[in-house]
Amino acid sequence: MSMPASVDMASIWAQAIESGAIDRWAPDADRDYWQTHGDAYDDRFPDGPPEGFDAVAEATAEARTALEIGPGTGRYTMRLAPQVEQMTVVDYAPSMLDRLQTRLTNQGIDGVTCREGRWPAVGAAPHDLVLAAWTTYSQREIDAALDAMVAATRRRLVIVDSAGVAPPHTKLLAAVCGDDPPDPAPRALYVVSYLWETGVRASLTVDSARRCYEADSSQSIATQLAPEANPATISTLADRLDDHLEPTAEGVRYQYEIPAGVVVWDPTDESLAEGSSGDGRSDATESGGPD
Ligand SMILES: C[S@@+](CC[C@H](N)C(=O)[O-])C[C@H]1O[C@@H](n2cnc3c(N)ncnc32)[C@H](O)[C@@H]1O
Repeated sequence: MSMPASVDMASIWAQAIESGAIDRWAPDADRDYWQTHGDAYDDRFPDGPPEGFDAVAEATAEARTALEIGPGTGRYTMRLAPQVEQMTVVDYAPSMLDRLQTRLTNQGIDGVTCREGRWPAVGAAPHDLVLAAWTTYSQREIDAALDAMVAATRRRLVIVDSAGVAPPHTKLLAAVCGDDPPDPAPRALYVVSYLWETGVRASLTVDSARRCYEADSSQSIATQLAPEANPATISTLADRLDDHLEPTAEGVRYQYEIPAGVVVWDPTDESLAEGSSGDGRSDATESGGPD
């Protein structure tokens, strides 16, 4: 069997969409999802900077403008906006933008332009720093989405995304239901591979992403984690979660860590830009990418 001359990462992404390993790419359904799940979204993040934020903060020393794609309720925005002069955020879920706008107003943070729209169709002028955290899942054509991010980046592109490890409760739930353990697509790895394929020498590191659920009982936690499961499944999941719970004054806490991939591209970093054509991209057909 002959091997293809090079890996076509955009096709691999498309296959992952077809197989369901990358889901929720249909924007209307995702917009509806955030309409009803936006309120609970923030509750699952413990205090402290979000995963990959070090790479974002490091870039702000030289960044005056920032563009964030898919800010959600502003986990990154609220920390980043005060560090730059002007920030634009683009999100296709009006319910999330409303929540973010309320937080910005309440905390007196100015200089953030909120735009409703779908990336990449919505487009944006170049910004010093471009950030997209946990948003590539919605992209059917990853090449168009990433090419547009690269084109919009003057000094630093940061993409935070799945490293392909499922949270403990997802594995437990699969075992309860007799399903195969879920295998989330390592989207961050796909992203960095696609970028290298196109001559964009990005780096990939791993950071720890922490998530937290609190409730009065393990049964309530299980219900939050598997809202569509039947009562018997919820009860079994609650039992199996026991080892992962810690007591709190009000009940129990389920906290876990999973790895998150942090993709960073600095078009001005010449150490990674061998064979650079001057725009930060090297000649992908000659150099091929990492092996
Ligand atoms: C999982 S949340 C992530 C929010 C935030 N970045 C974070 O890490 O907490 C995804 C957000 O991105 C938005 N989103 C996803 N794909 C998008 C796209 N292609 N264009 C615009 N917004 C998008 C969703 O509406 C949602 O608000």
